[in-house]
Amino acid sequence: MDSLLVRPSGPLSGSVQVSGAKNSVLKLLAATLLARGEFVLHNAPRIADVEVMCDLLMSMGVDTRRSGSDLAVSCSGDIVPEAPYELVERMRASIVVLGPLLARFGRARVSMPGGDNFGTRPIDMHLKGLEMMGATFDIHHGYVEASCDGLLGARVVLEFPSHTATDNLLMAAVLAKGASTIENAAREPEVADLAAMLNRMGARISGAGTSTIEVEGVEELSAVEHTVIPDRIEAATWVAAVGIAGGEITIEGARSDHMDMVIQKMGAMGVRVSPSRSGLWASCSRRLQSTDVATLPYPGIATDYKPLLVTMLAVSEGIGIVTENVFRDNRFAYVAELMRMGADVRTEGHHAVVRGVPRLSGARVKAHDLRAGVALALAGLVAEGETEVQEASHIDRGYEDFAGKLRGLGAEAERRR
Ligand code: EPZ
Repeated sequence: MDSLLVRPSGPLSGSVQVSGAKNSVLKLLAATLLARGEFVLHNAPRIADVEVMCDLLMSMGVDTRRSGSDLAVSCSGDIVPEAPYELVERMRASIVVLGPLLARFGRARVSMPGGDNFGTRPIDMHLKGLEMMGATFDIHHGYVEASCDGLLGARVVLEFPSHTATDNLLMAAVLAKGASTIENAAREPEVADLAAMLNRMGARISGAGTSTIEVEGVEELSAVEHTVIPDRIEAATWVAAVGIAGGEITIEGARSDHMDMVIQKMGAMGVRVSPSRSGLWASCSRRLQSTDVATLPYPGIATDYKPLLVTMLAVSEGIGIVTENVFRDNRFAYVAELMRMGADVRTEGHHAVVRGVPRLSGARVKAHDLRAGVALALAGLVAEGETEVQEASHIDRGYEDFAGKLRGLGAEAERRR
């Protein structure tokens, strides 16, 4: 039994606290490999992916201790620079240990992350960039064997503003000899959060959050305390929930300046959203209006918002065309599940045409991944009868107590394990 049960329960109300950002904290944890001493990460979300990253660090000889939303990480120096298949297989983001291990220890053995529901997801940009910094790679038996005789600063131009490739190269460049430039870098707020912590550790980074990042390598870095930024994808989930179920809520801790495009897009559909003293206020009192959506690297509409937007479009008035430009292979796997609830969606390659319907009906559906699982649960807020989202552990990977937070907003939701 690994499911989430949702029943329609009318408009939402009250407030919800956003947790720290999954796609930042995972890289902040990897960055602790760059220095000795005790780190403390505040606002560290209690999600399954963080546990996997802690297991990975502990398998290398790092000590991690949680106390509430604080995570203490101490790195002694006797590190086994290896990321085994068993852990990388559970979370492909483990690849971000490659840069810090190479930079500090001059060698690393990291299992190649396999494909997932989005498609092949290669790491060629990570390897090409690190090669330009002087690393050499041997790929065999499913592992990347990496080594270098001290990384050297380089100018790396990314073919696509890859999020984790930017993170990996940034964590390599901070200890490389000389200056590095990362061109066409990812501009996500999580990249800027990583750079902020690295600079606090003694690094010399400028331009993080823009497409050109400059790094002056230093000899050594030291451990620090850092507060993880709020999770903008989680915050957008609660805005989508109000759009779908109606109501008025406050989203504590959300940063509207990280969410311009999605707030605009959901606003165009009829959700009123504005910054509040402690986060965001969101309200919706009439049926959503369809619009078109195209995903793009930040600051465009993030691909992680797309399943939320498709569920909103599924119950909107009108027709919306959705175009996936980041994971072009196959990020519509969950659409078939939504159609089992009565949605009217046609997909063709990396496009989907969503014809809004007045009513959905509850059904047993399967979560193919984290964002898809949450999008199906939100559909359950307005579907007749009960919706059972199976394989709900996908949701636990990136959402802290999702069912509890839904109940806090007045919804009927129950997590069954
Ligand atoms: C990060 O994945 C996020 N994960 C993803 O969030 C997010 O969907 C994605 O960025 C895009 O915003 C984490 O931060 C842990 P990319 P990442 O490298 O870095 C291609 C979630 O639900 N590419 O920016 O792996 C790639 O195939 C997750 O929280 C190469 O071709 O994504 C894709 O088409 C899902 N070669 C595109 O670039 C490479 O070497 C963008 O991928 C690297 C990437």
